[in-house]
Amino acid sequence: MKIVLRNRKHCYVADPCSIKVSAKKVGSLLGKNGLNLLVNNAAVLASGTLLNIPVEDMQTTFNTNMTGPLVVIREYLPYLQTAAKASGTPGISCDKSAVINISSTGGSISSILSMYAQFPVLPYSASKAGLNMLTALIAVELKPDEILCMALHPGWVRTDMGGEDELNLEVRESVEGMLRVIRSLTENKHGGFMDYTGKTLPW
Ligand SMILES: NC(=O)c1ccc[n+]([C@@H]2O[C@H](COP(=O)([O-])OP(=O)(O)OC[C@H]3O[C@@H](n4cnc5c(N)ncnc54)[C@H](OP(=O)(O)O)[C@@H]3O)[C@@H](O)[C@H]2O)c1
Repeated sequence: MKIVLRNRKHCYVADPCSIKVSAKKVGSLLGKNGLNLLVNNAAVLASGTLLNIPVEDMQTTFNTNMTGPLVVIREYLPYLQTAAKASGTPGISCDKSAVINISSTGGSISSILSMYAQFPVLPYSASKAGLNMLTALIAVELKPDEILCMALHPGWVRTDMGGEDELNLEVRESVEGMLRVIRSLTENKHGGFMDYTGKTLPW
């Protein structure tokens, strides 16, 4: 069964109570096999730099892009654990139980520095760097449960956030690429950072 919480009306990830309510609802729909794939996709893009970013934008961005995924993973963890146990196969793989955090090269410290003048999106980049760190640390915590956890960059995509640049990917191309990557994930990608083509990215 696929359950899509499509937007903030279904689960407002900047609000831990909303996440709790959604987890309860989803839990009541899931069968005894639990939840085998959780994708944290929701995010906001606020731009600004040291001298002009309003503190509120910084807080909203962190609440949505970093704390949100953390609370989502915590609230949905029992269902992911159920799926990992129910699978009956040893090791870590995406067929069994997995958390995919949709991140961005904008959160890669080694990639963003050369792009920062062109893309001055300090709150977004800092929050996605935080999400990357969270992914690596949560991967350590989830290893004993044999739940795969990794960060995935969708590419630059024609969406509300990505804009209409004709060099950007169509949504379909990005999503098909990400699904191919997700299906191919094995234990050696646990705790890693990749893009929609399957390339490993630097943190
Ligand atoms: N597009 C790109 O080029 C690009 C590049 C790198 C990474 N990414 C990442 O890819 C993911 C998807 O981005 P996108 O391009 O599809 O962005 P988008 O077009 O702006 O869509 C963002 C989605 O997140 C939801 N959302 C925002 N705040 C939320 C909240 N507090 N609670 C629940 N849902 C919330 C929005 O819901 P509403 O419809 O209700 O607003 C919307 O469905 C994000 O994690 C983004 O950082 C995108």
